[in-house]
Amino acid sequence: MQKLIIQGGRPLNGEITISGAKNAALPILCASLLTHESLKISNVPALHDISTMLSLLKQIGTGVATSQSSEVILTAAHLTSLTAPYEMVKTMRAAILVLGPLLARTGEANISLPGGCAIGLRPVDQHIKGLQAMGAEINIKHGYIHAVAKTLHGARIVFDIVTVTGTENLMMAATLAAGTTILENAAREPEIVDLAHCLIAMGAKIYGAGTDVITIEGVQSLHGAEFRVMPDRIETGTFLVACTATGGDIHLKDTNAHLLDAVLDKLTEAGARIDAGQNWIHLHMYAKPKSVNLRTAPYPAFPTDMQAQFMSLNCIADGTAIITETIFENRLMHVQELKRMNANIEVEGNAAIICGIPQLDGTHVMATDLRASASLVIAGLIAQGETVIDRIYHLDRGYENIEGKLSALGAHIKRIK
Ligand code: EPU
Repeated sequence: MQKLIIQGGRPLNGEITISGAKNAALPILCASLLTHESLKISNVPALHDISTMLSLLKQIGTGVATSQSSEVILTAAHLTSLTAPYEMVKTMRAAILVLGPLLARTGEANISLPGGCAIGLRPVDQHIKGLQAMGAEINIKHGYIHAVAKTLHGARIVFDIVTVTGTENLMMAATLAAGTTILENAAREPEIVDLAHCLIAMGAKIYGAGTDVITIEGVQSLHGAEFRVMPDRIETGTFLVACTATGGDIHLKDTNAHLLDAVLDKLTEAGARIDAGQNWIHLHMYAKPKSVNLRTAPYPAFPTDMQAQFMSLNCIADGTAIITETIFENRLMHVQELKRMNANIEVEGNAAIICGIPQLDGTHVMATDLRASASLVIAGLIAQGETVIDRIYHLDRGYENIEGKLSALGAHIKRIK
């Protein structure tokens, strides 16, 4: 199993390029199932989750070609399978995103139920409820969601809770449904807007993406298109937190400050100075960070995917902070690992109280999920001495070449087998 070894205590300085967004690319890859024609997608990050999704799409019968790095051409002319098997869904929950497009295109889909996950229960009841409202007959048998619909029809669907992939699945299904679908209490994440732009480029009629009411007028068919995936706002935020925690001066290219207002506000509160242009962000930090309280919530509020990274920052900040996680019920697992590095954190229910200390101590820690891994990398960068991070396959699911990018910024980090 691979590990990362970090010698902490060095500020980050320099310039790197931000990759395409994992959580935008995943649904956009699935959108290829909605048309016989080719979809050419650029700025696709080289990540484990992306390869898993491409394997699944190939298994379903999609032709996958790569013309140059970070570009993929998907052609779902003749689908040969309607099943997303357990072996794939268990390694990547986002596989549920093939449900809506497959059902809309072929009238049938058979998708393994994802089951629980390290960060929470994560049921998919809202995806199922929405497709049923659009006329699908759904049976759960032997751990699989079997959905059948001769034709899907438009419906008014009010989500009980805000769900990102739920909104994406139903938005994709509705593009080929007969009539108009209205999604209320829809998620407003920028990745949903990016997916909507891709679907619109394919001929879909979608209004209101980025607000909590999305209207989709179904069309007979969609066509091929070319689309560039948006920058990864969570990768961007992770590097910005790393620089705020270690001190230094970094310039991030190919990103967009408007995607992470809530995160930039918190970094400014911590003492960072941030400048931004159309496709770059510059951060410098020469003081000790100040503690920042935060509470995760759906976009545009503070993202759950940045909570763990701010936990590490607060560990060595001046003062005491409270971090409250409201999206997932088990997303504080990094706390135990940070405590092994001497952090002063108490957990009460879904909140963590972090008392800043002068320094973390490097030690051997274990990554438990993607963003928890990122928080341990940041902790390693600020700790005194050597930090060894185990189970880094979690990191490879969502951060493209993280050790290469951090090395380019002057960090002492290496991967060992
Ligand atoms: N939920 C339900 N029923 C549903 C769907 C969701 O109860 O049918 C609950 C979940 O259990 C959770 C909450 O609703 O408590 C929000 O879950 P959501 O469906 O929004 O999460 P998701 O779509 O499964 C996406 C991202 C996650 C990110 C969350 C929240 C992708 C592929 N994944 O997950 O990304 O944390 O939205 O923003 O887009 C990550 O990248 O590390 C990651 C976990």
